[in-house]
Amino acid sequence: RPVEVDRPKRVLLAAPRGYCAGVDRAVIAVEKALEQYGAPVYVRKQIVHNVHVVSELEKQGAIFVDEVEEVPPGSHIVFSAHGVSPAVVQGAADRDLLAIDATCPLVTKVHREAVRFAKQDYRILLIGHAGHEEVEGTMGHAPERMILIGTPEEADTIEVPEADELIWLSQTTLSVDETMETVRRLRARFPHLQDPPSDDICYATQNRQVAIKKVAPETDLVIVVGSANSSNSVRLVEVALEYGAKAAYRVDYASEIKQEWFEGVATVGVTSGASVPEVLVEQVLADLRDAGFDAVSEVKTAEEDLQFSLPKELRRDAQGNV
Ligand code: F3S
Repeated sequence: RPVEVDRPKRVLLAAPRGYCAGVDRAVIAVEKALEQYGAPVYVRKQIVHNVHVVSELEKQGAIFVDEVEEVPPGSHIVFSAHGVSPAVVQGAADRDLLAIDATCPLVTKVHREAVRFAKQDYRILLIGHAGHEEVEGTMGHAPERMILIGTPEEADTIEVPEADELIWLSQTTLSVDETMETVRRLRARFPHLQDPPSDDICYATQNRQVAIKKVAPETDLVIVVGSANSSNSVRLVEVALEYGAKAAYRVDYASEIKQEWFEGVATVGVTSGASVPEVLVEQVLADLRDAGFDAVSEVKTAEEDLQFSLPKELRRDAQGNV
């Protein structure tokens, strides 16, 4: 059994946490597509990076595929919240697939910036993680004009053609602090580097980081609910540790919490990534309550009320103009 502590046991619950407007819209888009067109509805990649959400939608008749080539011609296909490159859109059209684009509007905004600056002959330094679906989709909008930068260290060594106009853009779910460090190092080498017209790291990513920064210094342990491939969830673990949490772990489900994490722990911080339904956080809180952590206070650093309208294809077909 973990060593008991004499300080009162408590939970600090970060807010905002969990679903962002883009995830909410994407999940509803798949549900509505199933309702409007009937199962199966195909989804390219995980609609959002959360194992629970994906398995629940599978139960309702969604079929997740990696590429449009796996989908029978004439079927409905939903593009995930992370967005797709124009090549994927074309691939779906070539197979006569009926596409429903659930790309988060805040990712689409970055796509538009990429296209616009590429047309103006800028060289675009995209800060993001290689292999992440959002990065593949964004790079696909201007592949010849983009250079990907994964870490602040890479900013020190990256080669950029001389005399190019330079602008940086980014993935929407990065650590704000680390991205600013990357930009600082880039600008030291390329003083003419321009900033994006508005923040690419989205409001939800920023708000969840601000909340955990407030909670972390007071905690002995932080539990982040979220999946391993969820960029913003993984960043929350890193930010919690940077801001003074003595330990921080990511779990998909409450059942993954280990007894030994509670050794000498009085205050537990809890948060969740932007793709995580609140029911998974409630299960964590229930298990914490069973372990004696029954005083829960919410630490709220922002109000969120953003909502996006459903993908246009669903709105059009819901009006009967199929
Ligand atoms: Fe969109 Fe940000 Fe969520 S880009 S999907 S609002 S994490």
